Amino acid sequence: MEFGHETVVLRSGRRTRLPIIVAVHSTVLGPAVGGCRMWGYARWEDGLRDALRLSEGMTRKCAAAGLSNGGGKTVVVAPTHRPLTPDERRAALHDVGDIVAEFDGRYVTGPDAGTGVADMGVIGERTEHVFCRPEADGGSGDPSPFTARGVVAALRATCLAMSGSAELAGKRFAVIGAGNVGGQIARQLAAAGAELILSDVDPAKRSLADELGAAFVTPEAAATAEVDVVVPAALGGLLTWDLVPRLRCIAVAGAANNQLAEPEVAELLRERDILWAPDYIANAGGVVNSVAREILGEDPDTAAKRIESIADTLTGLFETAARTGVTTAVAADALARRRLAAGI
Ligand SMILES: NC(=O)c1ccc[n+]([C@@H]2O[C@H](COP(=O)([O-])OP(=O)(O)OC[C@H]3O[C@@H](n4cnc5c(N)ncnc54)[C@H](O)[C@@H]3O)[C@@H](O)[C@H]2O)c1
Repeated sequence: MEFGHETVVLRSGRRTRLPIIVAVHSTVLGPAVGGCRMWGYARWEDGLRDALRLSEGMTRKCAAAGLSNGGGKTVVVAPTHRPLTPDERRAALHDVGDIVAEFDGRYVTGPDAGTGVADMGVIGERTEHVFCRPEADGGSGDPSPFTARGVVAALRATCLAMSGSAELAGKRFAVIGAGNVGGQIARQLAAAGAELILSDVDPAKRSLADELGAAFVTPEAAATAEVDVVVPAALGGLLTWDLVPRLRCIAVAGAANNQLAEPEVAELLRERDILWAPDYIANAGGVVNSVAREILGEDPDTAAKRIESIADTLTGLFETAARTGVTTAVAADALARRRLAAGI
């Protein structure tokens, strides 16, 4: 792997002795942003690899979203064989806060897999450079409604590109993963008059499908359903060499990170004439809201307009990709690289 990061701190937490990695990939456009992942890894090297990869991804995400920020990521390497006790968890979050504080604002952390809004409040006891603390503490709270809003904007742009109309009513969507983000996407789609298929590995999510009048099917059935758009909102890696030939949708656009099992799968999607909305463009609403509210001090309406502009970014990418004969993935990476090179 080529080393292109500005700073990587690998430290044993002072209180917990757990390995903690803070990777700052780039501050070319401004302070680096990116969440704190607290996850069980068999080896700390795996956590380091994730931190390097995810922080670089945040640089691309911020640049493509037009933010004056770079990418960073924190990983707390938790044990795999048992959960942390509440005291250990609190101590680990304080360890994170102390390391983030050393960056003196060059890096701002936030929630990621394994951490949430309450955890950001705990990190906030050690540093002010943390997004998404509880609203009662002056933070912007849970980012998932804003991520969902951005994904729905992306779905409108996707519908526009595939059918000439951004209208969601009457179109068919298969949402895979009915968690924090997917559940809200499903609600918004149902409210807009879309036809809905819902899927989750957790059978308890069937009640949401019932509430919305949606069919509840297995993840495999949802992914291969004959719909207009498949909406990945669970884990990454959905779009594999095996699945893509079996897709029966016109487009794929959703919240999940790292949807392509391998980068080359984007080419297979293009060959099959399936429009793919690059994940880090479609799911940027959460980070856009955090930056707009907590760094730029914007009011909710102005921040919402920024989130809605994900649709324009995506429409531009779809046009560029079609005009120049490249995949949407290549077009998105080129957009991010251009903004980084221009330093704006
Ligand atoms: N929360 C945010 O603001 C945000 C921002 C950007 C990207 N994302 C990405 O969006 C995705 C969803 O995030 P979330 O916050 O809603 O997570 P979540 O944990 O709340 O929800 C994920 C849901 O997916 C289900 N699931 C897991 N594996 C599945 C599978 N194989 N098939 C079907 N369902 C499965 C889970 O049961 C759960 O209900 C993740 O990939 C995340 O990285 C989230």
